[in-house]
Formats: sequence, structure tokens, C-alpha cells
Amino acid sequence: EKQIGMLADSSETGGVIRIPSTWKNGRIDYVPVDDWVSGFFAGTLWYMYELTGDEAWAARARKHTEILDSVQYLQWHHDVGFMVYDSYGNGLRLKNIPGYEDVIVQTAKSLATRFRPVPGVIQSWDADRGWQGERGWQCPVIIDNMMNLELLFNAAIYSSDSSFYKIAVSHADRTMEEHFRPDGSCYHVIDYSIKDGKVRHRQTAQGYADESIWSRGQAWAIYGYAVCYRETKDRKYLDQALKTFTMMKNLKNMPEDLIPYWDMSAPNIPNEPRDVSTASCIASALYEISTMDVPDAAGYKMYADSIMVSLSSPAYRAALGTNGNFLLMHSVGSIPHNSEIDVPLNYADYYYLEALKRKRDIEKGL
Ligand code: GLY
Repeated sequence: EKQIGMLADSSETGGVIRIPSTWKNGRIDYVPVDDWVSGFFAGTLWYMYELTGDEAWAARARKHTEILDSVQYLQWHHDVGFMVYDSYGNGLRLKNIPGYEDVIVQTAKSLATRFRPVPGVIQSWDADRGWQGERGWQCPVIIDNMMNLELLFNAAIYSSDSSFYKIAVSHADRTMEEHFRPDGSCYHVIDYSIKDGKVRHRQTAQGYADESIWSRGQAWAIYGYAVCYRETKDRKYLDQALKTFTMMKNLKNMPEDLIPYWDMSAPNIPNEPRDVSTASCIASALYEISTMDVPDAAGYKMYADSIMVSLSSPAYRAALGTNGNFLLMHSVGSIPHNSEIDVPLNYADYYYLEALKRKRDIEKGL
């Protein structure tokens, strides 16, 4: 509470709400509302409310959520699911605030504009802008996109418009066919032909190599397919989540403290940066999986508990007043882009708090 309280204080100075994303070279980085990580701090504040019951956190969370109002109309990238579901989605779940359902439905409409019916997927990135525009892609889809489907499933319920559900299922199915290798690990980027829907390339953007195991991508797959199972009850999605998790768990180079390297195929392991954001996302997913109809549910919870013990130790959890007042140290944004290497990241904190909340609920029998 103290650490996140200080981070929230410093992001609210001068009557302006800013969005802290990371801390590097002694300074907090703040992002604009259209950045893919813009919803995580609001979501962190909602989890602070849920974990403490203190209404002051809810009031703060609401302010940080509502600065994201314009995201519901954003159509130039796919990350609106992360941005709006972590903020408005949690606000709706916890406080049923009037208007939040409408924001989620409008966001789903914006995301649906990126659905490409021939390949049957949501296009993640535009192919004609930024560094992505230099790769020669037509319809790039990244595994991260699995995390945007939760918003679509829920928008289908709020709006009674089943097209959002159908888009989510189509995306999840095609991704399951094309993104995964026989061992359960996944590629980062699949580029589809817009004309005939065939795969043009299987590549990476943020991993070490096209054929490598970029850790956060595996976390997005595990978490994303667990959500697909929750929302559809189609067992194949849970099987995919478990297969990818089991692959990660059995990697011989997985460190004893269970905090993965940024890429499990990186050449200098064990002298490669860890990625705490991967660990916290996997822990949160495993807590949910441990409540599902799976053999050895307790084993998934135990694995998540072990991750949380590591993350909560001084090796990863920052001392009060350090680390720019983020909770966790040692995450990686993108090594190929020389960006955010061995720093705190707001999404590592977000999934850590979500995992803590899920752990608490399971242990209280909620
Ligand atoms: N979604 C972008 C990332 O995982 O870095």
C-alpha cells in the first residue's frame, strides 16, 4: 500500500493524472493513453482496492480509469483489450459503475474493425506504420493478442451481440492452429495473407530468434487460453494452456526460483536478464487454472505459490521507496528494441497483485 501509494501520489501531481509505466535512469516513464500499457496502473489501483477494501483506492482507481475514455474509439492497434479490460473491466466488476459496460462494448466494436475474415484473425499491428511497417508483413498477428479476447467475450454478453464472441473464437482457433510448435511453445508473430488467408511468415519481434521461446509470449498464451476455456467451456483451449505451461515448466534451463529468462532460448543463459512480468502473469493464470476441472489442480497452485514466494523475496520485490515505487524489479520489455531491459514494468505489478488476489480468494474459499 505504501509503495503503490507513493507511485500514485507522484503520478497525480499538479492536478494532472499521468500513467506510470516503468522507471529507468532514475526517472519514472509516463505513457500516453494510446500506449498498450495504459490500463495497467488503473487496474493495479482496482486490485489495491480489492485487496484492502479501502474505498480511497476505489476513488483513485476510478480517476485513473476514466482518463482512458478515448481508448474505446482506438482502432490503430489491437491492445485495447488490455487497456480497457484491466481498467474499466475491473471497475465494472467491483463497482458496477454506470457507463462502464458501454465503454467496453464500444471498445469491442473498435477491436472488431481489425478482424480480417479471410484468415479469420484480428490483425494485431498495422503493416504500414512504425517499426512494424518495415518488416514486409500483410496481416501480423502476435500471440499477445490472445489477451484481448476477454474483452470481446464480455462485450458479447453486455451487448447481446454474438459477433464479438464469434470473432474471439475464430481468432483463438486460428491462433491455435498456426502459432504453436509440436512441443507446445509458440511463435511470437504470424503474418497472414489478406488475400488467401495463408501463413506468409512465422517470426519474432521481441524474442531472441524466430524459433526461440520468447517467455512473455508463452505467458500470454497460457493466460489467454485459460480465459478462452473459462468463457467458452471448450476443453481444447484449456489443453493448449496446460501444454504450453508444461513445456515451460519442463525446460531444463528454468531457474530454480521459477522466474524465467526473458527468452528461454537466449544464448547466454544463465547470464541473461530474467523477466518478472512473465512470472507474475503465469502465476496469475495458474491460480485460475487451479480452480478449473484439471487433474492435480493443487500442483498448479503450488507452482504459482512458489513463483509468488520468489517474487515476494528481496531478490525481486523492491524495498520501500526504491525502484521508482513500483513493486517488482527485473522485467524486460524488448531486448531486440533495446528497450526496458531489467526494469520494473507496470504490467508485472498488475499481474502480481491479480495473482495475490486470486491466491487470497482460493485460500479463503471464495
Ligand atoms: N504486448 C507487448 C509485450 O508483451 O511486450
